Amino acid sequence: MFHYDAPAELLKDRIILVTGAGDGIGRAAAWHYARHGATVVLLGRTLEKLESLYDEIESAGLPQPAIVPMNLDTAVEHDYIELSNQLYDEFGHLDGVLHNAGILGMRTPIENYDPVTWEKVMRVNVHAPFLLTQALLPLLHKSSDASVIFTSSGVGRTGRAYWGAYAVSKFATEGMMQVLADELDNDPAIRINAINPGATRTQMRSYAYPAEPPETNPTPAEIMPLYLYLMGPDSKGVNGRSMDAQGQESA
Ligand SMILES: NC(=O)c1ccc[n+]([C@@H]2O[C@H](COP(=O)([O-])OP(=O)(O)OC[C@H]3O[C@@H](n4cnc5c(N)ncnc54)[C@H](OP(=O)(O)O)[C@@H]3O)[C@@H](O)[C@H]2O)c1
Repeated sequence: MFHYDAPAELLKDRIILVTGAGDGIGRAAAWHYARHGATVVLLGRTLEKLESLYDEIESAGLPQPAIVPMNLDTAVEHDYIELSNQLYDEFGHLDGVLHNAGILGMRTPIENYDPVTWEKVMRVNVHAPFLLTQALLPLLHKSSDASVIFTSSGVGRTGRAYWGAYAVSKFATEGMMQVLADELDNDPAIRINAINPGATRTQMRSYAYPAEPPETNPTPAEIMPLYLYLMGPDSKGVNGRSMDAQGQESA
């Protein structure tokens, strides 16, 4: 596991948006960001899940979050611009974005892959983070220390049979991260990186490996050290890297 002991007030007064915040890794990240002082903007498609996390954060006495119900499969450019305007009116800037929401699609050979599912996976996993990033960059540029984290996967670094659109979308995610990081390399106030969570105990993992006992893999909470490190000021200057949440590196 990546080793990092996050100070209690690591993210104090920071405004951080998390996509797919209602479940799995995104839920754990939003909760940990809030616990370390951030005001979190919870974006997801299932309102009840977002509301349940909202209640948990509020009853723990943490900074009051915001909820953004949005389906990344159907949202269009205008929706992202509207969201950016709303966040500007409410907060004036943004200090971090965790692009975490993602879908698996089919586990099948490319020869048989359903083209409609292919497009959906590319829309949710690649096109939506592109549109969201583009709309939010003006707000991120208003922060003195902004961090954008994309979510990759092992199959986004080395292709593997039957992972289809999911693997291709994660290669694209790595590419988008690298291009953007290079474009912003001379700006010390913003960094762009990616995390490969590694096998983690979530619904997506059990869809991908139905026969695997869930306790084989760490929980989302256990992989949070890298999520905290890359979002907070201790990673200032780290740009364009794709890091493993379950790797052996230390901060
Ligand atoms: N778990 C692993 O082993 C693993 C390994 C490598 C990479 N990853 C990556 O880690 C990220 C999180 O995965 P996870 O395992 O936590 O998955 P998960 O448990 O399936 O959670 C995915 C989250 O994304 C949201 N989401 C899906 N489609 C959406 C859409 N169209 N609009 C808005 N939100 C949407 C889901 O919302 P609902 O709850 O409403 O469905 C859910 O909150 C993904 O990018 C995944 O590819 C995971």
